Amino acid sequence: MKLIENKNILLGVCGGIAAYKSVELLRLLKRHGANVKVFMTENSEAFVGRLTFEALSGQPVCSSLFEKVGSRSEHIGHIDWAEKADALVIAPATANIIGKIANGIADDALSTLVLAVTSPVIICPSMNTNMYRNRALQRNLDRLRQDGLFVIEPESGELACGTSGPGRLPEPEYILDRLLFRLSPKDLKDKNILVTAGPTQEYIDPVRFLSNPSSGKMGYSIARAAEKRGGRVVLVTGPTSLSDPLNATVIRVGSAEDMAIAVFEHMEHADIIIKAAAVSDYRPVDPCQQKIKKEKDEIVLSLQKNQDILEELGRRKENRLLVGFAAETENLEKNSVDKLVRKNLDIIVGNLVGRPSSGFGSDSNKVTFFYKDGTTESFPEMGKDEVADILLDRIVTMVRYRLSDN
Ligand code: CTP
Repeated sequence: MKLIENKNILLGVCGGIAAYKSVELLRLLKRHGANVKVFMTENSEAFVGRLTFEALSGQPVCSSLFEKVGSRSEHIGHIDWAEKADALVIAPATANIIGKIANGIADDALSTLVLAVTSPVIICPSMNTNMYRNRALQRNLDRLRQDGLFVIEPESGELACGTSGPGRLPEPEYILDRLLFRLSPKDLKDKNILVTAGPTQEYIDPVRFLSNPSSGKMGYSIARAAEKRGGRVVLVTGPTSLSDPLNATVIRVGSAEDMAIAVFEHMEHADIIIKAAAVSDYRPVDPCQQKIKKEKDEIVLSLQKNQDILEELGRRKENRLLVGFAAETENLEKNSVDKLVRKNLDIIVGNLVGRPSSGFGSDSNKVTFFYKDGTTESFPEMGKDEVADILLDRIVTMVRYRLSDN
């Protein structure tokens, strides 16, 4: 994840049961290439030992106002790190630290750090439900939001103290996701983005269908990346096992015909349409109403062509930006460019499918972008999240270019 790779992320840990989740958050941040420095409050050391954080971050933990950096006695630890920080995440954030931050109190290393940082600050409250609902606490959280800090709402559920309700620290993956949201440029703000993903299923009888191995990962990566960049996302998806992207309108469909209906219904408001779905080209002419019995040694399936949704979008395109995908097993360039022209696209993302490290089902992809002006861009194998971000970079550039052209 380029956004936090080699970036200085400060992780503040307060005294709460959820402090054990900070360990996992630290590991996630490290796995994505961040340099992490942990700041612990005195109370947090009752929950997790500093050695754990030191071993996983590879840095001494800062918990004292008077910690010096190495042998340079002129540098005070929290100030030095505050200047270098790209983001500060406090997880879990107790009522105590929230109250201190809201009122500008700086009486330990973490609260002093908060006053000194100029980077984005992300607060993850976690506490007993009644404490969370307390008016003073809510007033303090409002103050934090007004001051420009980013508050991640706690989850509802059973809490360690035996009560049930809001107050639980969200899972580390969610906190990381919202950190990336906070750090992402909002270059798709106010844009409506329609994305399709996954396979379609064409039923032969009530228990069997024709489909393909698309996992939906590419389209979901695009939907998640577009949301982080401020876009309003509608995701039309065939059957997948993936969880819904945050803050997107998700429409689940089965067949190519269902997908076409959903896409045409939502295309009106779309500024950008990205069709990553692997749509079945054919459907059975006459699906059986009952399960087909294996009486004959050989049966013949009669298929008819599905509508090409993207080609129809190309006809109705007007000033929308239209992006397609080409799944090929050979002649990548020729086949992709043919589709780019035939479907009236701005970009087609060509990828070779049918190999383990690229295309269907895989977490990575090796793609070439073909643009309508005849230029191309080839990329090495990379994660689908990264492909999604680069594709959106190019789309943003095209949208800007068009605006400056008009
Ligand atoms: N597509 C579509 N509707 C279809 C078939 C494809 O919208 N009925 C879209 C896909 O979502 C993709 C692009 O068209 O963005 C290319 O899909 P692909 O399967 O690679 O190519 P096809 O056009 O189906 O051509 P062929 O199967 O002959 O390669």
